[in-house]
Amino acid sequence: DSSVVYTDVLIVGSGPAGSSAALFLSELGVPNIMITKYRWTANTPRAHITNQRTMEIFRDMGIEEQVLADATPHAMIGDTVFCTSIAGEEIGRILSWGTHPARHADYELASPSLNCDIPQTYLEPILVKNATVRGTQTQFSTEYLSHRQDPEGVSVRVLNRLTGTEYTIRAKYLIGADGARSKVAADIGLPYEGQMDIAGSMNITFKADIAALVGHRPSVLYWVLQPGSNIGGIGAGLVRMVRPWNEWLIVWGFDINDEPPAVTDEAAAQIVRNLIGVPDLEVEITGTSLWGNNEQYATRLQSGRVFCAGDAVHKHPPSNGLGSNTSIQDSYNLAWKIAAVLTGQAGEALLETYTAERAPVAKQIVTRANQSGREFGQLFAALGIDKAESAEQMHALIESRKDTTAEGAAKRQAIQAAMEIKNYEFNAHGVELGQHYNSSAIVGDGTTRPVPARDPELYYEASTHPGGRLPHAWVGDSSRKLSTHDLAPYGQFTLITGTTGQDWTTAAHKVSDRLGVTVGAVVIGPGQDVTDLYFDWAKLRGVTEDGAILVRPDKHVGWRADRLPADPEGALYQAVATILNRE
Ligand code: FDA
Repeated sequence: DSSVVYTDVLIVGSGPAGSSAALFLSELGVPNIMITKYRWTANTPRAHITNQRTMEIFRDMGIEEQVLADATPHAMIGDTVFCTSIAGEEIGRILSWGTHPARHADYELASPSLNCDIPQTYLEPILVKNATVRGTQTQFSTEYLSHRQDPEGVSVRVLNRLTGTEYTIRAKYLIGADGARSKVAADIGLPYEGQMDIAGSMNITFKADIAALVGHRPSVLYWVLQPGSNIGGIGAGLVRMVRPWNEWLIVWGFDINDEPPAVTDEAAAQIVRNLIGVPDLEVEITGTSLWGNNEQYATRLQSGRVFCAGDAVHKHPPSNGLGSNTSIQDSYNLAWKIAAVLTGQAGEALLETYTAERAPVAKQIVTRANQSGREFGQLFAALGIDKAESAEQMHALIESRKDTTAEGAAKRQAIQAAMEIKNYEFNAHGVELGQHYNSSAIVGDGTTRPVPARDPELYYEASTHPGGRLPHAWVGDSSRKLSTHDLAPYGQFTLITGTTGQDWTTAAHKVSDRLGVTVGAVVIGPGQDVTDLYFDWAKLRGVTEDGAILVRPDKHVGWRADRLPADPEGALYQAVATILNRE
């Protein structure tokens, strides 16, 4: 049929989930088409905090430098302020995203990449450009209408919104990355837990140069406690930096049970002036929108040849900055599996591990983000303002934290304790890097997962236990400094061993030939492929020197062997074949 367009994978949506899926598939040489409803990418800044796991993925794709060039750097994003207005008094600060000196080591030790802040309006064009340059056919102004799947593929009806004409795209697989109100997810009837629209929020974007008020305490987030700031919204009033220090976004809540507020430019300017605390501030309102807070995740992410990724399967407020990050990480998990099945390297059952591995993450981050919003309640309670009935009363209650009385002392202590809890929103390193998979694409080694020594939400603990993310260490030689992640590129499996484990190299070559799957081998040791420059890898590898760690394309440990067995080829073959569901 000449009116049908053919491809291997059709991606619906060019947000973080869709554009990254397109990039990953093109990087792997898989023909793909990405359609998106509008004429261009996101038109509001939306997600911004980009965590280390995502930056590592960008490093893997060779686009980390492009992202950093458009981002506000790590050093400028962390002095999170809690205040009565930006020009007004501070309640306190919390150094965020690992910028506290006591936490910075954790972040530096864990990853070759530091986090940064890049609004979606800047990130999406980078992802779309790199995907398209590498092979994606990108179709703007093209809307997904419906699909029908059969044992060989999926026929998708789409609408060209410029011409008003409909046509069919025939693909082997369909990825619905069409956001929180996903039509693809609805059409395949994905099951969800939780609810949408549990609280109301409004976004106000504006331009105002307030460098003098914030430049000395550089941050992305300035939280404002004022009358109404605990109604709806995301825990408190938020003034969020988009570009330092003249472009901003305010998130302000409203009662979702009331009529949605009419946000005129005048009303928006008033909210801006209240939160900044400068009554005659010159401000240009550039946009307003209303949105509902959600607490909902899918428990299955696939139906046959159709998959959903991103907000389509996890819907939650921006707290913890997990939305875009998790969306990109979903696609990173899915794309190599689709590529492996398409090239015949893996059995179809590998695709079911996408749900097994990512649905628990969806649940975890939806729960975490909503809990973080609610935990602002403890700060309101500590200040005693949760029940304040007027602005005057609220002001007096906040002032009373200065009292030279026993009550004043108790209040100061309660504030400190409530601020401490906010680490679970702003320094949740374990949530960001500690994702651990359990599926048929992970082969256990008979050991149990180490019990965390510290709080697993706040602290990431490096481990090569199968299922976890490959630990980072710097390796190299006199001319190169590489991360262990750099040794294991996305297009292959990688086996990492030590000097006395060189027989694994032969085993990897043989297994590659037998399975038709690239299993690269890297020996870390003096005079070998790379050296353990700082002797860190020896402490992290979790196996003896002649043992081996099998790294999947997505940098999760698929299997490991504590030592060199009599038949390394047999052991490795068994592991790779099992991961790829080849039996
Ligand atoms: P996303 O919603 O980004 O993309 C969906 C894509 O699908 C779009 O390209 C759209 O055009 C396309 N599409 C939808 N239906 C289609 C159809 N029928 N046919 C074709 N294409 C279709 N997060 C955060 O961390 N901090 C924040 O401050 C904010 N703020 C924020 C504000 C607003 C207004 C929104 C809507 C969202 C946020 N978020 C946020 C959430 C964050 O933006 C979100 O987690 C990610 O964008 C999710 O990425 P996805 O790619 O999954 O969906």
